Formats: sequence, C-alpha cells, structure tokens
Amino acid sequence: MSKKFYITTPIYYVNARPHIGHAYTTIACDAVARRQRMLGADTHFLTGTDEHGQKIERAAQAAGKTPQEFTDEVSAQFRALWDRMGITYDDYIRTTEERHKKRVQELFRRIRDNGHIYRGTYTGQYCVFDELYVDAVGPGAPCSECGRPTETVKEENYFFKLSTFADRLFNLYTQHPDFIRPETRRNEVMSFVRGGLRDLSISRSTFSWGIPVPDDPKHVIYVWLDALANYITAIGYGSSHKGAQEAFQRYWPADLQMIGKEIVRFHCVYWPAFLMAAELPMPKSIMAHGWLLFEESKMSKSRGNIVRTETILDVLGADALRYFLLREVVFGQDGSFSFDALVQRYNADLANGLGNLASRTLTMITRYFRGEVPYPSAAVSQKAGDSAIAESARKVIAECNSLFEQYQFSRALEMAWGLVAAVDKYIVENEPWALGEKQDEESRSRLATILYTSAEALRIVTALAHPVIPDATAKIWAQLGLGDIRKFPLSDLKWGQLELGAKLGNVEPVFPRADKSAIERMQKMEEQHRSTPSATETPSAAAQPVAPLVAPQTAAVPAVKPTTPPPDGKISIEDFAKVELRVGQVKAAEKVKGADKLLRLEVDLGTEVRQVVAGIAESYSPELLIGRKVVIVANLAPRKLRGLESNGMIVAASPEGGKAVLAGFLEDVPVGTRLK
Ligand code: MSP
Repeated sequence: MSKKFYITTPIYYVNARPHIGHAYTTIACDAVARRQRMLGADTHFLTGTDEHGQKIERAAQAAGKTPQEFTDEVSAQFRALWDRMGITYDDYIRTTEERHKKRVQELFRRIRDNGHIYRGTYTGQYCVFDELYVDAVGPGAPCSECGRPTETVKEENYFFKLSTFADRLFNLYTQHPDFIRPETRRNEVMSFVRGGLRDLSISRSTFSWGIPVPDDPKHVIYVWLDALANYITAIGYGSSHKGAQEAFQRYWPADLQMIGKEIVRFHCVYWPAFLMAAELPMPKSIMAHGWLLFEESKMSKSRGNIVRTETILDVLGADALRYFLLREVVFGQDGSFSFDALVQRYNADLANGLGNLASRTLTMITRYFRGEVPYPSAAVSQKAGDSAIAESARKVIAECNSLFEQYQFSRALEMAWGLVAAVDKYIVENEPWALGEKQDEESRSRLATILYTSAEALRIVTALAHPVIPDATAKIWAQLGLGDIRKFPLSDLKWGQLELGAKLGNVEPVFPRADKSAIERMQKMEEQHRSTPSATETPSAAAQPVAPLVAPQTAAVPAVKPTTPPPDGKISIEDFAKVELRVGQVKAAEKVKGADKLLRLEVDLGTEVRQVVAGIAESYSPELLIGRKVVIVANLAPRKLRGLESNGMIVAASPEGGKAVLAGFLEDVPVGTRLK
C-alpha cells in the first residue's frame, strides 16, 4: 500500500466571514497536499469549521439568528470560498455535525474512564474572544493573549488533570524535535510547560451552545476540547462503523497539522495531553506559521483590517494569491499584505516571468517547428550555455524538493524562479528569433537545441510549481502536450524527459499583465464592501448605520427640547442623549513630549479620524493601544492640552489612587457605533 499523508488546517471560527488570513493557512495546506499526491502518497486533507462556544453563540445572537442558522450560513461561506479557489480538501468537518458530536463524547468518556477528569469549581477569568481560561485576577482584567477584558466565571466544572502531563509533554518535545515547528515556537512551548501546568476546566455550564458532557447534560464540553477533537473524529475515531475505524487506523496520526502562531498553546500543550490521556498516538508535526499583517497589524475581523479573498480572485485569480502568499511571506514569520506588492509580484514573476517564458518558448516551437518538440542537436554542436541550463535545472529539482519538504515555500519558489530567470537570459543571449530566419542546417540545429532546452526547463519549473499555482501550470503542461499534470509522478522528475517530436497543445497566454487599474479596482471593491457589509458580517452595523458625526455642540445649543429636570439630581434620558458616545478604534498612539501622563491618539470614528489627547500614559503604553476599540465622547467641545487640540474624550474608569482602565467591549462592535 502507498505511503499515507494526513494533513489538517485549523477549523475556522464561524463568527466572521473568511478573509485572506484564513485563506493563507488553507492555501499552504493545499499546496502541501497537492505535492504529496504528485509524490504518490495516499493523501487525506481535512478542513472545516469550529461552530460551538460562547463566542459563536453571542455572534449569532447579535445577528438575530439561532446559532444553528448562523453557523450553517457562515460555514457554507467558508466552504463555497474553498470550492471557488479549487482547494482540494478531502473532507470538510463541522463541529455541529452528528458524527463529530457523538465521537467527541466518546473521547470525553475515554479520558474520564482513564481517570484524568474530576469535578470541581472554577472561579477565575475567561476570555470569550480566545475561548481561553486566563490566569488574571479581577473582573475585566486583560486577557494575556489578546488584551481584551476578561469575564469572571464561577462555575461547577469538569477538570482535566493537565498538571500530571508536564513531564510526558516535555519528553515529547525533547525526543521529537519536529513535533513543533519552527524552533522559536518550540522554545516558547517548552518554557511555558517548564513554568508548570495547572489543571484545565473542560466543561462550561452557564450556556448551552455546545456538545453535552456524557451523562451530565447540564454541562457542555469546553469548545477547545470539542474543536481539537475534530482532527480525529473526522477520520472515524470513536465510531462503531468498521469503515470509519479503518480510516482512523490508516490516517492517524496526522503527518502535518498546520496552524497560526496564536493557537500554539492549544495545539502543542492541550492537544497532545488530551491524546495521551486517551492513549492515542501523537501527531508527527505541528507547524505554526506567522500572521498576515495588513496596515501593520494582524489581519482580523475585530481590527476591521481584513482583505476579502473574493476581491483578489475576481481581479487576478486564485493562482496569483497563492503564489504571492507563499512566495512573499517567509513561512513561519509574519508578513505584510498590500495590493501594490501583490500586483508587483504578479507582474514580475507570473506575467513577465513564467507566463512570458511559456508563451515565447511555445510560440517559437509552433512557428519554427510546426508545434513539435524539436530534437536537440548532437553533443558536438552544443554550447556551454545549453548544459549550464541542464545543470542548473538538476540543482533546482534537488533543492526545491528539499525546501518544500521543510515547508520553506518562499525559498523553494525563489529557487525555481531562478531557473526561469536563467532561461530568459539564455534565450536573450542566443537570439533564437534571429536563427529562425535562417534555413541553413547549423542554424536550424542550434535553434532546435535552444528551444528544446528552454521547453525542458519550462517543463521542470511547471512541475515544481504545480502545487502552488495549480491552474496555470495545468494549462502550461497541456500546452507542452503532456496531458494531465496531476498524474505526473513528481519524484521521477529529471532533466531530459520532454518527449521529442511530441505535439504541443493550443498555445495561449496564462497570466495577462495587470495594469495600475487592477490595484485601484481591488481597493475600490474592498472600500465598497466595507461600507455595505453583509448582515452576517457586522450585524449591528447593518441594523444601525453610522450617523454622520455632528460638529461639537456647545452647551448653549441643546440637541433636544429642554424638559423639567427630574428631582434628586437625576438627569432625564434627553439629557443623556446629549452626550454622543461612539465606538472608536485607535489608529496611532504616541507619548506627548514633556507630559508624563498624556498620550496623543488618532482615533477612527468610522467617518473621520480624530486627534484625542488622553491622560492615560501611566496606564497604557502606546503600542498596547493600537488597534484597540475604545469609547469616545464624540461631541465634546475641542480643547487644547500642551498645545495639542483634543477633539473628544476617551471613557475610562479611574479608580481612586489606581490606574485608569479603558472602557471596552467583550463582543465585537463596528467602529462608529453609537452607545445609547
Ligand atoms: N477555531 C479556532 C481553531 C480551532 S482548531 C482546533 C480558531 N479559529 S480562527 O478562525 O480564529 O482561525 C485561526 C486560524 O486562521 C489561524 O490559526 C490561522 O491559521 C488563520 N488565520 C486567521 N487570521 C490570520 C492572519 N491574519 N494571518 C495568518 N493566519 C491567520 O482559532
């Protein structure tokens, strides 16, 4: 039986529509899966959606839908996008599916029967955004991962004896250095575990959107245990069906689990501990990549700086996005996305690079050799440049393969495109078009060698690049007269396999050049989308359009008719309505020179960006504030502080003798929303 290869993406939360951050992981996995198939492995590629928990329950509520309706809708959007992009997943798991629910309960039972679960009471902080128990003290204390305010939870829970697994986990990391990649993440995890592990609450009882704990349905299973289990439930763990059991035996343990760096702890500490507790084998490797940044911060719905994949597909196509992400970003590190960089890479490497090499080589073979791969001339009339290309192609095959094995996509592609550049230079230097005008035997034979050499190098780059740019390479392969590229056994790739005399297919350009308007078009599409978001995406914004901000009012011009003041020093609702409180997002923050307490902030209110000077420098460092959503008194008359005009005030609690604490939100709220 052939070697197997089981690869997984994280399952994505359905609280937001997919963006290119999600596409990044999925594309990387798809490239690996396609390559494994070309190498002949029995590949199983799993992706899906994470649909339970408090965060999703609240997002559904905010959208005015039942959790099931809501998750059905968003999960289908993820799946439709992957289909549109031609992602070759073999299975798509949703955690709300029956098969998953039953099998998770089975896993819970097994861990409990093995003596690793006990009942207790959890009192502490919980971050709903990360669905994480946080070792912070006090209501509203910031989450250690994302800085958002945490909620205090006091619940009767089931606990998992995580503390007893520290030594075994440590042994796993030391004995299997590839278990966590890259090295930086491995070091982080090791120091986290070295710091000691506390038992983990693995159930919740104050809401119901989850999988009931077996024999105690008042509790639902902690969403991360539920979600992590997808990697085994999808392939049949816990099923009584023979076929499912066989699939589980065949595919588990996973060969590669790809994740973003923010979920390393869940995957490299909790997940292996759960598997140990259930006496199941460990995945072979967990690879954490970095973040895709946009406008300098992590692309995420809550920061409002996402780029939709559809925009890029509409204008440049899936191959362009795939190539850009895997070529531009060093896998494992953070990388920036911009439309300018995308179009520049597209034009330089795809349109002018591979696309141009394919069309000029194939067009000349069509023109000068009636579309049949020419025979290279006898060794005596060969020149050094010909064999230099063959030599460099041999090197590229070996190095590209080894770089792909280590998931160093950008270096692998850089190598392959080095060959494209070398062949371009070779063509320019040898001027085949000039030889094409001559009919003497020597010119014909040189021409044949040059075009054969170019076409063979093109074939090699095409095969190597196929996992990354599947559509274009499939077309070039067919134009080379080679049939279905997916059937080509990549491990056999070597110089000299191009069939002599083979008939080329129809030659057509694969990457039309993109002009400047491509960037503008994509930017415009994103702007339009931001101003008319779908109901699922930003429900409260759709229900409550942002009103244009009025100029700061003075107290002398009341917004509403005065009414008789209520007794007891209380104010009327009309009085309160005079205060315009809005959600803003900090875009820039810096210390004010010569003032220890002041920060100068630029705050986005949806319709404008305001300068606000706030006395919070002793409580917050400027970097901590960028991207954070705050509450602004938007209609406060401007005033000057240290010579800087402040247009509005940030709302914060100022405990006696303590540090200021900014008001914030536990759920996501669109910028500009009014508080009332
Ligand atoms: N549901 C959990 C994962 C459970 S897995 C058992 C979750 N979901 S998520 O929707 O937030 O997706 C997280 C993953 O999406 C990241 O780990 C990463 O793979 C990908 N990305 C989301 N935004 C990203 C960027 N801005 N940049 C890079 N990857 C990003 O966490």
